[in-house]
Amino acid sequence: MTEVNFTVDSSGARYAGDEKKPLLWVLREDLGQTQTKFGCGAGLCGACSVYVDDKLVRSCVLPISTVQNKVVRTISGLDDELGQRLKAAWERFEVAQCGYCQPGFILASHRLLSQTPPGQSLKWESISNLCRCATYERMRRAIEAVHAERPSP
Ligand code: FES
Ligand code: FES
Repeated sequence: MTEVNFTVDSSGARYAGDEKKPLLWVLREDLGQTQTKFGCGAGLCGACSVYVDDKLVRSCVLPISTVQNKVVRTISGLDDELGQRLKAAWERFEVAQCGYCQPGFILASHRLLSQTPPGQSLKWESISNLCRCATYERMRRAIEAVHAERPSP
């Protein structure tokens, strides 16, 4: 039995149990945070993506013991200006179909835009998430719109 103290979207969280339990299942089962989704469970699809501190991770393969004293940010806590712009663009372009993969995609898009200064080309290959509804084209348009709207430094 291990005890892990961490933060989820500005709230303190505590877990006591198996140190190898994936962060995804601690979020969903122990903390009731079901906005982070289970897709493949093997680190492949990106549905379970969250930030841990400033690093985007696939929480289905991340043991809970690794987030001790760290800050986990889910789609619910993605409320900085870029996160708000992305969520608004997702609505504007009616990106979601079933919606299941979308939290992970928005987080991956947030990381892509965070790493791309305004005016520079987007490295699409950095997003390897999967969408079974094939909403890729609408996602691309939403991301490009947010990128184009960003003020130059
Ligand atoms: S559920 Fe984690 S990568 Fe697919
Ligand atoms: S919108 Fe349905 S899986 Fe992506």
